[in-house]
Amino acid sequence: MNRLLPIISLLLILLAIESKAQVSPESIDEKIENILSQLTLKEKVAMCHAQSKFSTPGVPRLGIPEIWMSDGPHGVRGEINWDNWGYADWTNDSITAFPALTCLAATFNPKLSYDYGVAIGEEARYRKKDVLLGPGVNIYRTPLNGRNFEYMGEDPHLASIMVVPYIHGVQENGVAACVKHYVLNNQELWRDHINVEVSDRALYEIYLPAFKVAIEEGKAWSIMGAYNQFRGQYCCHNEVLLNNILKEDWAFDGVVITDWGAAHDTKESALYGLDMEMGTGTDGLTLSTKNAYDNYYLANPFLEMLQSGEVPISVVDDKVRRILRLMFRTNMNPNRSFGRMNNVEHQEVAREIAQEGIVLLKNDNSFFPIDPNKKMTIAVIGENATRSMTIGGGSSELKAKYEIAPLEGIQKRFKNANIVHSMGYASGPPAYARVIPSPYDADSLKRAAIEVASKADLVLFFGGLNKNHHQDCEGGDRLQYALPFGQNELIDELVKVNNNFGVVLISGNAVAMPWLPKVNGVMQGWFLGNETGHAIADIISGDVNPSGKLPFTFPVKLEDNSAHHFGEISYPGDSIKQIYKDDIFVGYRWHDTKKIKPLFAFGHGLSYSSFNISNATSSKKTYTPGEEITLTCKVANTGSKDGMEVVQIYVGKPNSKVERALKELKAFKKVNLKKGENQTVQVSFNADDLAFYDESISDWNLEKGTYLISIGNASDNIVSEIEISIK
Ligand code: GLC
Repeated sequence: MNRLLPIISLLLILLAIESKAQVSPESIDEKIENILSQLTLKEKVAMCHAQSKFSTPGVPRLGIPEIWMSDGPHGVRGEINWDNWGYADWTNDSITAFPALTCLAATFNPKLSYDYGVAIGEEARYRKKDVLLGPGVNIYRTPLNGRNFEYMGEDPHLASIMVVPYIHGVQENGVAACVKHYVLNNQELWRDHINVEVSDRALYEIYLPAFKVAIEEGKAWSIMGAYNQFRGQYCCHNEVLLNNILKEDWAFDGVVITDWGAAHDTKESALYGLDMEMGTGTDGLTLSTKNAYDNYYLANPFLEMLQSGEVPISVVDDKVRRILRLMFRTNMNPNRSFGRMNNVEHQEVAREIAQEGIVLLKNDNSFFPIDPNKKMTIAVIGENATRSMTIGGGSSELKAKYEIAPLEGIQKRFKNANIVHSMGYASGPPAYARVIPSPYDADSLKRAAIEVASKADLVLFFGGLNKNHHQDCEGGDRLQYALPFGQNELIDELVKVNNNFGVVLISGNAVAMPWLPKVNGVMQGWFLGNETGHAIADIISGDVNPSGKLPFTFPVKLEDNSAHHFGEISYPGDSIKQIYKDDIFVGYRWHDTKKIKPLFAFGHGLSYSSFNISNATSSKKTYTPGEEITLTCKVANTGSKDGMEVVQIYVGKPNSKVERALKELKAFKKVNLKKGENQTVQVSFNADDLAFYDESISDWNLEKGTYLISIGNASDNIVSEIEISIK
């Protein structure tokens, strides 16, 4: 027997090695099940709600970390206190402020969207945030919405193309994107409760597409429910939106997070798709609970329902599985990078997006560019020439490492010019949900500005909106379509004394321009982040040729916009309910179909060069469902400067059996052309993209017959049309 022992032990060792080799490393799902089986019910429930303003608890005894989140879509917000909205005033949380997402959309350049995502993701990672609360893709339905600047415009296809690369870029850093605000949060007035009624057709064709693609192609790891209601149920616990559409139809495997304070019911939160409750306004610390967070809907009340059997344990297990999966993708992923912040590459990305997003709207007599070497006096007038725009605006505000204002950018670039600045008007400091009046006397500001303008060779007026309450700010809508703070009257006075006049609007929304015929040049500058002044000077000086295109329509007057055409119930609603009577006719879809000429059209944007799109042909005349449709055309840069053009493909269906917009954007491509160069450009889309959402079958329906393809460089500048048919 003794002689056998060594052989037996050797065999046992070989068996052990063999069995070990066979056991593949545990899969994420196996790890999740393993952890789940060790959690107490209290630990499971605790993970489903906040422990502080921006964090949820892990499981300390098992070494499972907390989840830390931060706003916002344009950069990583300054650190907020544990238990209130105040800033913690850290000295190490200044970051890169990237341009607002409206500017990103205006670039019509998906590659920049990826660069944006990578850069902001690296900063979120370095700031040790596991979830970045962005991007926002709510559709631009009315120019009065206070938060349009945070989103990607009025067209679902543009927003869809631009949101996916951003999410990929963020999540490559091991940081979860949190696409928001799902869904129909298209205004700020009464946002916390308004019950939105909209047709299925408009829901599926206009408001859902960017969220659908963010989940199915972007693979977003989290999504934020909106504050408002949809068909009588809050979006953060909504059976149709969360259980049926998001988790079943789109197979979302991530975490549904509330907007802050957007949960309103325990049973609904438990059963209708909510996974993580944040920001609920509990009654604070009461005698009965040691911690306000125990009062959350998904805290003790949820625990009691689970303990009593009113809600099965499987319900909390599903939430915890999703939360653990997000952790294995973020803070429990041992391979994720360490991020970086305030590095030159991020600042260059911010500047490049700003350069490509600025839209040249009007340029009579080639007012722009302005020769940076010419000796002359330039009057720079307007509060927005110097106003910081990285602060204010609500949750997307930032603590930027630096911020180059327009005036500074002009001064640095136009070294031979005598730059004279005058404020012209003043709006007062930014304030959330209230207005702090300006401390300046309006008349004296106006007189000073007129004096400066009268002595200058050229006037650059920097106006627009700002991050004040009611002015491109969360928590309130604009009260007027006109420019505020007396800007229109000031411009009228200034052009009387000097008509060599250009306007740069810094804003995130369309505005009325009664003075448009009186000025030579108009540029749409967005909230551009910390490189604002550099990017604006790059464009104004001609160092960079503008190539931005409008991601939303500028109506002449507010009544021309479809959300404002159907009375109060359509906008802003009756304070309880709102009906989107404009239905699918949002933005240019309305203007084109009803032949209401806009001030500036969706997709419009001039260049310092000129481009010619010609010889457009389609790959075939007849297509079958599912087939790729490819358009080929020649694009020539017929001007004197290198530049970029955006070829835009719109499609409409004459004689359709259902009402349709005249045409809808189905594809676009931005091309880079040296002066004199021409390129053959191909743009493709799928025949199935031409289907409409058919409420009679609750599904998409690709109508057979003739379609009209319109090719151009703006929705109101179509250069050729091609008929195809779907058989
Ligand atoms: C805010 C915003 C949301 C933000 C959250 C946290 O109310 O609606 O976009 O991420 O609360 O600040």
